[in-house]
This record gives sequence, structure tokens and C-alpha cells, in this order.
Amino acid sequence: MTLVGDLLAAQTAHFAGLDPLLPAATGLARGDAVSAALPDGGRVAGLVNFTEYPPGSANRLWSAARVWELVPVLGGTGGAGMDALLRAWQHRMAGQADFDPDSACVLNWPSRDVGATRALLDHGLVPLSVLAVREHLGATAVRPGQLTVRRARTADLDATVELSMLELEYSALVGSAMIRPEAAALKREALATRLRSGDPVWLAEHDGVILGLAECGWTESGPHTAAAARLPRGRWGYVNCVSVLPGARGSGVGRLLMATAHAEFERAGVAGSYLYFNPPNPLSSVFWARQGYRPLWTMWEIRPAGALR
Ligand SMILES: CC(C)(COP(=O)(O)OP(=O)(O)OC[C@H]1O[C@@H](n2cnc3c(N)ncnc32)[C@H](O)[C@@H]1OP(=O)(O)O)[C@@H](O)C(=O)NCCC(=O)NCCS
Repeated sequence: MTLVGDLLAAQTAHFAGLDPLLPAATGLARGDAVSAALPDGGRVAGLVNFTEYPPGSANRLWSAARVWELVPVLGGTGGAGMDALLRAWQHRMAGQADFDPDSACVLNWPSRDVGATRALLDHGLVPLSVLAVREHLGATAVRPGQLTVRRARTADLDATVELSMLELEYSALVGSAMIRPEAAALKREALATRLRSGDPVWLAEHDGVILGLAECGWTESGPHTAAAARLPRGRWGYVNCVSVLPGARGSGVGRLLMATAHAEFERAGVAGSYLYFNPPNPLSSVFWARQGYRPLWTMWEIRPAGALR
């Protein structure tokens, strides 16, 4: 086997020991190769991909415009391997230092690999987002009180855009999301598509006043899908955006929306459900743990890209 082939096999074994929900490690087909030697004579490798999202693209709502992503292939070397590879990456980035605030270095890594966490923190990377999963916990019974939950219709587009923008504004304070001038138009377009295609989107109401939104969808993790690098095989419920009006937060609206979503996911026979949240979000970090979600992957990031150390 090649060095990368050996490292990928060892990395798959390392991941399996860390977390039973991690899929097999896969390399990338393209990117700039970076590698480093370890004091014991071993080697680690990785690929760096640069992406510039065009102005007006939806990716710019949750990402910097210019992104360098490292995909590490560390085998089972843990923190020592991550440290060596980050040093090599930093050396590479120093040659093309980008201090534009709209640039970032990013890296996805299993949340439970805490040896690597130490190295990532020491190099200045921040755990800005987490992909969290919930397995077959069933639906939780909640007493709706005077609240009702119903599926959103195309006529609800304005209300869903408003709630979705409130979530973006909150998330931009605590994570990687950014409010661009075209944000409302992009949200409108994405929500209109979701509503038209019949994706599961719910609204919570009290006396006919809309208080909260749960915008969800379905994701297939199978051969040749992007999701297969992150999630075990199968059909997954995806929770894209949950948002409750500021004055109605903490009174059970989110809980009722998610009880409805989880009941539908269960009926559809999904492998589980997943979402992204920002660990610095003081509301959602607690809310999602109480809803049965736990970290699988952590998205590490540093802005500007040139600040990698
Ligand atoms: C995160 C968010 C969606 C949660 O919705 P919410 O309606 O505020 O949450 P809930 O009130 O249903 O539940 C939160 C907790 O509040 C508490 N709570 C519930 N009812 C309550 C009440 N009447 N009084 C006080 N606290 C209450 C409970 O501890 C509950 O947790 P539990 O149900 O596990 O016991 C909402 O706070 C929000 O919109 N935040 C801003 C945007 C955001 O962060 N979105 C998520 C991005 S990933």
C-alpha cells in the first residue's frame, strides 16, 4: 500500500475506536499535498483545497468568501500527528498570507479525538461549528398547552423568511454565519424551494400568531454522496434551521417543534437525524443536548486565513 493508503486504513481503525458513528476515512481526489515527518520517523499527510465562493452565493451565508480547507490523513498518530501537519500547513499558508477578514482556514475532525483537539487549539483554530447527531431516541411526548404546530405552506413564505433571518442574525454573533446584503433574498429562494418540494417545514402558532419555525429536510448517505464522508449509511433527517421569536424563547416552542419533527423522522424510518450548531451559542448548545443530539464532527476555523499559527 502507499503511504496515504496505509494512513487511511490506520485512520479508519482509529476513528472506529473513537466513535462507532464515524464512517470509514476517505481521502480526497484533488488538492495540494502537504506532509510532515514525526520524531519517531513516521509521516502524516493531508490535502489542502482552496475555494472562493462567488458574490451572491448561498455558501457565503455560513462561510468566509475565501476558504482553505485541510483534509488531514493522520493514521492513528492523534495529537502528535495533527500538530506536525498543522505546522507544515502553517508554513505553507505563510507563503500566501491572506489577512482579508473574509478569509478562513478550516478543518473538520471527529469531535471525540481530544488529543487532536489540544493541537488544534494550540494552533489558534476555534471550534466554531459542530455536526451533531441523534439516533433512535423515539419521539418525546410534550404537552402543547395553547401552542399548535402545523406544516408550513407556500403562503407562509414571508413568515419563514423572517424567522430564518432572526436565526441568521443570532448565529452571526456566535459562529461562522455572516449577514450579507443578499441574505434575505437567498433565504427566500431556499425556503421557497423547500416549501415547493414538500420538505418537512413546521410552524408553531399561538392564537394564530406564528412564534417559531423548524425547517428540515432529508439527506441520503450512500455511495458517491457527500454525506457519506460524515454520516453512517442510510436516510437521515436534517434539521437546517430552528428559530423562535425572541420574546417567545424558553417557553417550550422549540421543544414542541422538535417533538413534531422527531415523530415524522421516526415514521419515515430514518437512521437518525443531524444538524449543525455553534458551541458558543448559549441557547442552542443546551437546547440540542437536551433534545438528544451529541457532537460527531467539529468544524475548526480561523479567520483571517493568515492568522493560522
Ligand atoms: C434555540 C431555540 C430554537 C430553542 O427554542 P426555545 O423555544 O427557546 O426552546 P424551549 O423553550 O422549547 O426549550 C428550551 C429550554 O427552555 C426551558 N423551558 C421550557 N419551557 C420553559 C418555560 N415555560 N419557562 C422557562 N424555561 C422553559 C427548558 O429548560 C427547555 O429545555 P427542556 O425542554 O429540555 O426542559 C431558540 O432559543 C432560538 O430561536 N434561539 C435563537 C436562534 C438559534 O439559536 N437557533 C438554533 C440555531 S442551531
